[in-house]
Amino acid sequence: MSSRIKIGLFGFGCVGQGLYHVLNKSTGFKADIKKIVVKNKNKKRDYAQELISFDKNDILENPEIDVVVELIDDAIEAYHIVKTALQKGKHVVTANKKMLALHLEELYELQKQYKVSLLYEGSACGSIPIIRTLEEYFDNEPLQKLSGIFNGTTNYILTKIINEKLSYQDALKEAQEKGFAESNPTNDVEGYDAKYKAVILALHAFGTIVKPDNVLNIGITGLAENDIEYASEKNYKIKLTPTITLTENNKLNILVIPQFIRNINQLFNVENEFNGVIVSGKFSGEQFLQGKGAGSFPTGAAVLSDISALSHGYKYEYKKHEQGNAPEFTNNVSLTIYLRYNQKKELKHFNFIDIAESYTALNFNYIVGKISLEELIKNKVLIKENKLFVAMVNDNIKPNTERVKKATESITEFA
Ligand code: HSE
Repeated sequence: MSSRIKIGLFGFGCVGQGLYHVLNKSTGFKADIKKIVVKNKNKKRDYAQELISFDKNDILENPEIDVVVELIDDAIEAYHIVKTALQKGKHVVTANKKMLALHLEELYELQKQYKVSLLYEGSACGSIPIIRTLEEYFDNEPLQKLSGIFNGTTNYILTKIINEKLSYQDALKEAQEKGFAESNPTNDVEGYDAKYKAVILALHAFGTIVKPDNVLNIGITGLAENDIEYASEKNYKIKLTPTITLTENNKLNILVIPQFIRNINQLFNVENEFNGVIVSGKFSGEQFLQGKGAGSFPTGAAVLSDISALSHGYKYEYKKHEQGNAPEFTNNVSLTIYLRYNQKKELKHFNFIDIAESYTALNFNYIVGKISLEELIKNKVLIKENKLFVAMVNDNIKPNTERVKKATESITEFA
């Protein structure tokens, strides 16, 4: 590649502008943005006017441009841009987690076929260098688990409503104003964004390509005052935590679900838009990385780091995938959850394996117990539509036989 990289940039929103500023302030690495292709002709832009174009061929058909940086919002359009750029022999940097997660297999093949590199550190956990850490440092070590907080918006909302008693709507509005939220924040609050990131990280950590549709994501939209009080009485914090786990029979499960976290957990103090990643290796044990998971400059910095890596000829090697023995995906696991429900008739849909705690009052009902993941998947729509709240509980709760008996009777009564 030529000594000074020439960039064609798609999108000039939060991250695109972040890249523009970070690149301008960079004292070490230098590159030139040659063109910025955007969609909206009516938007007022205060700088870089001379670079703006509305025609994607100004980048894709421009032989002078050697790196395409794709930072648009629309995952379908992003897919076409990235695919075309790779087919034209251009290296690509993107931060579009939805587009990546939906097309990982094909994008992996395209890189090999056209001998080009596609880098996407900014797509998962903002400025935390997790993909390169997995690719370069943990490439040889079998991992057991990768978990954390992968979404800045939900973590910001949870921090504000729990620590500062802000309303959910006000906290979300702030997250949007600060540029953390997706243009459709449903992707954040219902756990889709975290799921796409988990799917991307699973490929680099374990070598497995997983279809996002196979992964259960339960978000934070059902969270109610009673759940916050319950958590606070027990000294828990509530975090939205994707977990990617190697099961005892060497299969891989991915799950995105709120979790009650104790202060001994590294994620306990990860607040606001910060993300955290815990990597559990077979030999190295637990490693913890923390950094800003969303926002213009942190994500812009991750994109710039990829562009700089490209200038040194860097590409992902997907070693764990190439080895050909990546674990198969499974949802055949069980977990302990807190389920807050509104009406007793809702409970008949949930078959618990074990019940450790059951509480019923006029306006607050919950069960803590062990349940299969398939059972939760079956109830995904009910959970969302009836605004039930589900959180994973990792404490080693021993079932109390008397309470289990009573709770089981009360469930059977309504079955
Ligand atoms: N909406 C995303 C988040 C942006 O809040 O984490 C960064 O990927």
